[in-house]
Amino acid sequence: MSIEELEVFLDIATETALAGGAELMSYWGNLQDIQEKGSPGNLVTEADKAAEEAIVKVLQRHLPDHGILTEEAGELGNITSRYLWAIDPLDGTTNFAHQYPFSACSVGLLIDGVPQVGVVFNPILDELFRAAKGLGATRNRKQISVSQTTILQKSLMITGFAYDRRETTDNNYKEFCQICHLTQGVRRSGSASLDLCSIACGRADGYWERGLSPWDVAAGIVVLEEAGGKVTAYNSSPFDLKSGKILATNGKIHDLMSKALIEIPPLAYWDTTIN
Ligand code: IPD
Ligand code: CA
Ligand code: CA
Repeated sequence: MSIEELEVFLDIATETALAGGAELMSYWGNLQDIQEKGSPGNLVTEADKAAEEAIVKVLQRHLPDHGILTEEAGELGNITSRYLWAIDPLDGTTNFAHQYPFSACSVGLLIDGVPQVGVVFNPILDELFRAAKGLGATRNRKQISVSQTTILQKSLMITGFAYDRRETTDNNYKEFCQICHLTQGVRRSGSASLDLCSIACGRADGYWERGLSPWDVAAGIVVLEEAGGKVTAYNSSPFDLKSGKILATNGKIHDLMSKALIEIPPLAYWDTTIN
């Protein structure tokens, strides 16, 4: 894939995310239709659907031969294509429904299954994250890079809890307690794509979560990797988009985080002397 081709795809991704963002803003503070789907607390609103339609329309106008995978409509277009767009029209629906201003349109392009272009746009705070393989990552068109933090005690972490958390023992609660104990704190922002971008621009040092879908992370992975970060499975093996379990860091605390996530002591006990 040439740099010129990636630049074209990055511009198209940007146009789609901005179109989705404009649609979202027309519903901000004015949502009439909020429903639950699947697990309790998993919301879908008229804003999710309208933004998705706007995004798909722009994408199909530019690239009618590409495949598309969206959160609300599923597979669209030529899904056997080597180009697959993974789209979350509203990542942070619960935040949006409560007017907590941390939600985004997430538009990622997988080429042969590998995330290569990503745009994450928070229209409420007007933050646009863009990246493509080999082209670096930007926030509002300015280059960004990950933090320099090298130890857990000086790190700020982010995580999230999937909607099926009441239905499984693999609910991230013990991991949350462990990382809370070992670091300066753990934030839960409610938008996986923006969480990855927060690590990319150095606002936090690491992020982990389970139960994610390709549309939650495809775009943010490109932004983070291009900003100098690292993305793997919890045990540091290569990240698999289908597994839904991600460890994403500034790279410098990656091994420490991986070890902390896979070696968790019994819930009621922590060695306070751990450094
Ligand atoms: C959710 C958000 C949240 C994460 C959930 C996702 P949605 O996406 O990214 O941060 O914890 O697992 O499903 O439902 O707002 O698009
Ligand atoms: Ca999502
Ligand atoms: Ca969503």
